[in-house]
Amino acid sequence: MTLPPILRSKAALQEKTQAWKMAGEVVGVVPTMGALHDGHLSLVAAAKQACDRVIVTIFVNPTQFNNPDDLENYPRTEQDDAAKLARFGIDAVYVPDVDQIYPAGFATTVSVAGLTDVLCGAHRPGHFDGVATVVTKLFRQTMADKAFFGQKDFQQLQVVRRLSMDLDLGVDVVGCPTIREEDGLAMSSRNLLLSDRARVKAPALNEAMEAMAEGLRAGGNATDLGAAARERILKAGFNEVEYLDLRANDDLSLLETPDRPARLLAAAWLAGVRLIDNIAV
Ligand code: PAF
Repeated sequence: MTLPPILRSKAALQEKTQAWKMAGEVVGVVPTMGALHDGHLSLVAAAKQACDRVIVTIFVNPTQFNNPDDLENYPRTEQDDAAKLARFGIDAVYVPDVDQIYPAGFATTVSVAGLTDVLCGAHRPGHFDGVATVVTKLFRQTMADKAFFGQKDFQQLQVVRRLSMDLDLGVDVVGCPTIREEDGLAMSSRNLLLSDRARVKAPALNEAMEAMAEGLRAGGNATDLGAAARERILKAGFNEVEYLDLRANDDLSLLETPDRPARLLAAAWLAGVRLIDNIAV
C-alpha cells in the first residue's frame, strides 16, 4: 500500500484540485484534526464512495481551542494517520502549515449566529467561530464539491451546513453516523487522553443517555429524566456534566419532550477530559 501524497501548501493543493475540477471530477473533503480513528475512516470510506477524488485535511486549528492546555495536549500522530489512510487510495492529505490558513495579518472571522449560542458554543467561547472560519478556508482551498462530517459533533455539523448555505460555498455537507467502541463509547481523538481507569468509566455517559432516551420515548420529560441521568453519570465517576439537553434537530431549540425530530446531546468531564456524545431520540 502506498502512502497518500502529503501536501503542505495551498499552491500544491490547488495545482491538483484545479486539474480535477477542469476534468469535471467530483472532489470530496474530509476535514480532520488528525489522530484518526475508525470514525474518521468511516468518513473517508463514505467520501470514496461518493466522489472521484478525496482529500483528507489534517490541521489542529488553534483558533477553535478556547483553552491553551487543550491545544497543547491535543494528540498529534501524523505518521500513523498517513499509514491508516494508505488503504483507501485517497488522492491527497492536506496538512497545511499554519501560515497557509492564517497568513500574517489575518483578520477575518466567520461567525454563525443562533446555532452557536447553546451547548458547546455556550461552554467554549469562540470555539465555533474558529471552526466556521477554518472550515470556510478549507472548503475554498480544496474547492470541494462535498464534505463529510461525523454526527458525533452534531452541533458542528449543523453549523457547517448553515454556513455553507449562507455563504453560497456550494459544498454539499454530508453527515455520517457516529462510530462507537464495543462498549458504546463514541469514538473520539480525545479518548486517547483517557487513563486506563477513566476509560473503564467512560461508557457510562452513553449508557445514561440511552436510558434517558428510552424514558423520553416512553412519554417521560427531559427535566426529570435529565436529573436522573446526570446523577447516574456522576455516580459512575464523571466529575461534571456540562450539559445534557434534549434539542430539536434543525434549530437546536431546547425541548421538554421529543415532539419534533430531536436529539439528546451531552458534554461531561471525566478525569480532565471533556467527552461529548449525542443520540437520536
Ligand atoms: O471536527 C473536527 O475535527 C474539527 O472541528 C474540524 C471540522 C476539522 C475543523 O477544525
